[in-house]
Amino acid sequence: MLSRQVEPTLRIITNLLIPVSSRLVRYAGGQGSLRQRFASASSDVLPKLLVMCMVMNMNTDRMERLVLGTRNRHKLAELRELLQPLSVPLLDLSQFPQAPPVEETGSTFEENATLKATRWSKALGEWVLAEDSGLVVPALGGEPGVLSAVYAGRHGDDAANNRLLLERLAQVPEEHRQAYYVCVAVLADPTGTVRAQAQGRCHGRIAHQGRGTHGFGYDPLFEIPEYHRTFGELSPLVKRVLSHRARALEKLLPQLQRFLP
Ligand code: IMP
Repeated sequence: MLSRQVEPTLRIITNLLIPVSSRLVRYAGGQGSLRQRFASASSDVLPKLLVMCMVMNMNTDRMERLVLGTRNRHKLAELRELLQPLSVPLLDLSQFPQAPPVEETGSTFEENATLKATRWSKALGEWVLAEDSGLVVPALGGEPGVLSAVYAGRHGDDAANNRLLLERLAQVPEEHRQAYYVCVAVLADPTGTVRAQAQGRCHGRIAHQGRGTHGFGYDPLFEIPEYHRTFGELSPLVKRVLSHRARALEKLLPQLQRFLP
């Protein structure tokens, strides 16, 4: 049993240590084990330890590197481009084979992006930026929405998803073929705490057939009215400026800068 005076100090120390260095906590064999180690230190050491932790906290609550929380190679490529202004190394889940699968059980883009960012950051002890995105067609009651990736049944089957979307729109009047992409990006720190979040949208309409080979997912069907071209036809440079992902990250970047070393 820990003495009554020591217990609160220990709690503060371990709480301070978690955000500071979840890695240290992991190496030490978990929070409980750290507490045991500190408990065996004499009580006059504890104030010094406390100050040390506070100093470490100030120095190390910093994003030394960032893990991009997606297994979608297209999204990954776009995120890497958009995060170029950020001067930290960008890693991805392929470098963390231990990253657990995260089920997207949320009913909103916000919930799913938060689920991915918080689960992976906590599991890996890393800063993680995750995003959830999809296509919303108001004339179809918001479909495919959060189910964009699995609309036709099989995860990431873009051709089948696009076919189903065209079928569902077949009887919809021309003037109601508007649609928009949504992207919610969430940054979580190594404790699994959300530190920043932003949303971006990109408005367009659904063409009658796929055109172009750029992009992925619904891009061959997603027409930008001002250009009379789909994202499949437009240069990736245009998508990098106009897309929902670009707009979300444009808002998120200044927030990310605050955590740089
Ligand atoms: P998530 O992995 O659950 O976020 O699903 C994203 C799905 O939304 C993708 O599989 C695509 O079907 C669709 N999607 C999201 N962003 C884009 C985009 O930029 N272009 C085309 N389709 C997209």
